Amino acid sequence: MSPQRARVPAPRVPTIIVHGGAGADPGQARDELREGVRTAVLEGWQVLREGGTALDGVERAVRALEDHPRFNAGRGSVLTSAGTIEMDASIMEGDRLHCGAVAAVSRIANPVTLARRVMEASGHVLLVGDGARAFAHAQGLRECDPESLVTPRQLARHQERMAAMKGTVGAVAMDRNGTVAAATSTGGLAGKLPGRVGDSALIGCGTYAESSIGGVSCTGDGEAIIRVVLARRALDYLKEADDPDHAAGVAVDLLVEEGRGQGGLILLDWRGRTGWAHSTPLMPVALMSPGLAEPRVPF
Ligand code: GLY
Repeated sequence: MSPQRARVPAPRVPTIIVHGGAGADPGQARDELREGVRTAVLEGWQVLREGGTALDGVERAVRALEDHPRFNAGRGSVLTSAGTIEMDASIMEGDRLHCGAVAAVSRIANPVTLARRVMEASGHVLLVGDGARAFAHAQGLRECDPESLVTPRQLARHQERMAAMKGTVGAVAMDRNGTVAAATSTGGLAGKLPGRVGDSALIGCGTYAESSIGGVSCTGDGEAIIRVVLARRALDYLKEADDPDHAAGVAVDLLVEEGRGQGGLILLDWRGRTGWAHSTPLMPVALMSPGLAEPRVPF
């Protein structure tokens, strides 16, 4: 049986924050990114507002970002060096530290949902490649044609061998019971070797949630994020400093200085306070809580 974590008495203010990946400033496409994260945060918010769980909220928000062709997750994922799509995703619920992840999956439109099934129905934490595919089939998840996930934009980038923006997506939410959940999904690194797995599939690196502290979703150079176990380290900083913005900033400094990479992260603490930081020119972020009439889209 999973250990029950000590729960902190708190005002249960549902809150959700999402990101659309740390990367370059896309110029005129900024508006599209802004609209994409705004729509995703509203979808997750609707779940929380109706009394749904943080887990349902982050899954809903990340699915919206996976379905949006502008982000590097689900449809719109970058291509490997072989011209294929291989996606990673993970999800975590912070009361009992339940978590699930998939890596190198190519025929699933919403890898975050498969990661959730791994968490809830497999008895494992991480399934990859053909094993993940067989599990998806056994779970009744519909396969998609991998070609349907390739957008003309990513195909053109691949053909031109341009470096793509590492626009991983993620969400962190707290529900009215004080449960914190986090999820992350990505097509990974443009031009990566087939079989490469990044931080987004690794609990503690790209994703982490512990309801008595908070939750984190990371984006950026996966190898660097893995080197410093960024998501868990960010929560440790949060526990020490009790200041989400400070913790996010210190964690990104760690990524740059010790991890030798670039990226960013979003963070939500057990009180519902949000923080984020990035070392790249841009990281689309949107957040929503009961005090706001409209999502905040601060970029
Ligand atoms: N952060 C996404 C990746 O490197 O795969």
